[in-house]
Amino acid sequence: EQIPLEMHKVRIVQKLELLPVEKRLECMKAAGNNTFLLNNRDVFMDMLTDSGVNAMSDRQQAAMLVADDSYAGSETFVRLEEKIREIFGTEFFLPTHQGRACENILAQSFVTSGSIVPMNYHFTTTKAHIILNGGSVEEIIIDKGIEVNNNHPFKGNMDIGKLKSIIEENGSEKIAFVRMEAGTNLIGGQPFSLENLEEVKEVCNKYGILLVLDASLLADNLHFIKEREERCKSMSIREITLGLSSLCDIIYFSARKLGFARGGGICTNNKELYMKMRELITLYEGFLTYGGMSVREMEALTVGLDETMDENIINQGPGFISFMTDELIKSGIPVVTPAGGLGCHIDAMQFVSHIPQEEYPAGALGAALYIASGVRGMERGTMSEQRDEDGNEVVSNMELLRLAMPRRVFTLSQVKYAIDRITWLHKNRHLIGGLKFVEEPKNLRFFFGRLEAT
Ligand code: F0G
Repeated sequence: EQIPLEMHKVRIVQKLELLPVEKRLECMKAAGNNTFLLNNRDVFMDMLTDSGVNAMSDRQQAAMLVADDSYAGSETFVRLEEKIREIFGTEFFLPTHQGRACENILAQSFVTSGSIVPMNYHFTTTKAHIILNGGSVEEIIIDKGIEVNNNHPFKGNMDIGKLKSIIEENGSEKIAFVRMEAGTNLIGGQPFSLENLEEVKEVCNKYGILLVLDASLLADNLHFIKEREERCKSMSIREITLGLSSLCDIIYFSARKLGFARGGGICTNNKELYMKMRELITLYEGFLTYGGMSVREMEALTVGLDETMDENIINQGPGFISFMTDELIKSGIPVVTPAGGLGCHIDAMQFVSHIPQEEYPAGALGAALYIASGVRGMERGTMSEQRDEDGNEVVSNMELLRLAMPRRVFTLSQVKYAIDRITWLHKNRHLIGGLKFVEEPKNLRFFFGRLEAT
C-alpha cells in the first residue's frame, strides 16, 4: 500500500462534530437534498470544494500581519504584482475579488452576440458569463477526456482537429478567444500537456485568435505535467509555469484555488488587452491596486503563489486523491481514472445505475453520502447543467459526485473514514432513490435549488 506522506505538520486545529445519523437525515431534508444548502456546523468532512478552504502556511499567516492597508498604491499590491511577474513572466496584472469576476470581465471585453468560445471543457461560471454576453461555448476536449475510465495521461487535452474545423466553419472573426482550463474541473480535475497547449497556440497564431488560460487549477496541472510529460521531468515547476504562460495572451485564476488564498486576477503581457479590461476592474471590482481583495488576502496570495512553485507542496493534493481513488477501486467502487487533481470523483452513473439522468444520480448520491457519513460532496452532473431555451433538461456527459480534497486540510485517517462510509453506501446503494426539483432557479440552479425524492 502506497501511503501519501504529509510534508507539513498541523499547528492550528478546528474541532469537528459528527452528528448521529438521525440528525444528519433531518439536516439533509432541511437542505432540500442539496449539499450546498447544509450548514457547515452539521458537516463532518467538508469535501464540497477546494475553493477558499485550503489551509494556509505559517509563512502566509505571518505575511498577513505585515500587510500595507491603503486604497491606492498599496505596497502589498506591489509585492503581489512583482510575484506574478516573476512566476508568469507577465507585465500587467489586474486584481479581482475571485475567479468568476475575471470571467465577467473577459466575457464583457471580448464576447459579443454570436461569438463562439472554443474550450477544452466548460466550467459552470465561465459558461454562464459567456452566454450572458450573447456568446456560446464549444467544448472540444479529446474524446478520451470524457470517458470515465481511460488511462490517457492528459485527459484535459484539446482536440486540435476540432479546433481547426470550428474556426474554418465559422470564420476566425467569430471566435472571441480560445480558452484552456488547467486541471479541467468538471471532468475530474484532469490535466492538459504542455505539448497540447503548444499545438493550440500554433492554431491560434495562424488565425490571429487570443489564447486564454484559466489557471485556477494550475497547481495540480503543473504537478501532472512534471510527473507524466517526458520532456518536462527534468524541468523545474517554475520553468514549466513560464513555458505555459509564454504561450498565452491572457491568464486568469481564482486565488480561492490557486495560491492557498482568496481573490483572483488577470495577467497579460499585452498592453492593449490590459487597457481594455482595466476600466471594468474599477467598475466592478475596486481600485487597480486591490480589485476587491483585502490586503491580507493579497499578502497570503503572494506567499501562496511562491509555495505553488514547490513540487513537494503541490504534490500533496494529488497524492491524497490518488490514495483515495486506489482504495475505492479495491472495493469495487466506480471512480474517475486516472486520479486527477481537485478531488476524488465517484461515477454516479454506475454507482446508482438504477437512477436515470433526469433524476440527478450524482445529486442523489451526494445527499445519501451525507446522511450515511456526514461527508459533504458536490454534484457535478446534470443538476449542474442549465436547461435549454425550451426548458428541456440537458443531460451531462458525466454524472460525478466530487469529493474535493482541500489542500493540507484532512489527515489520512479522515480520508480512510470517508472511504469506509462510501464502501458501506455502495453495498447498500439500492436504498438510494432519484430526485426532482421543487424549487429550480433559472441560472446556476445547483447552488440554490431544492429537491425531493421522486
Ligand atoms: N474556473 C475554474 C476552473 C474553477 O474551478 C472555478 C471555481 C472558477 C473558474 C471560478 O472561480 O469560484 O473564485 O469565482 N470553482 C469552484 C469549485 C467554485 O468548487 O470548483 P471562483
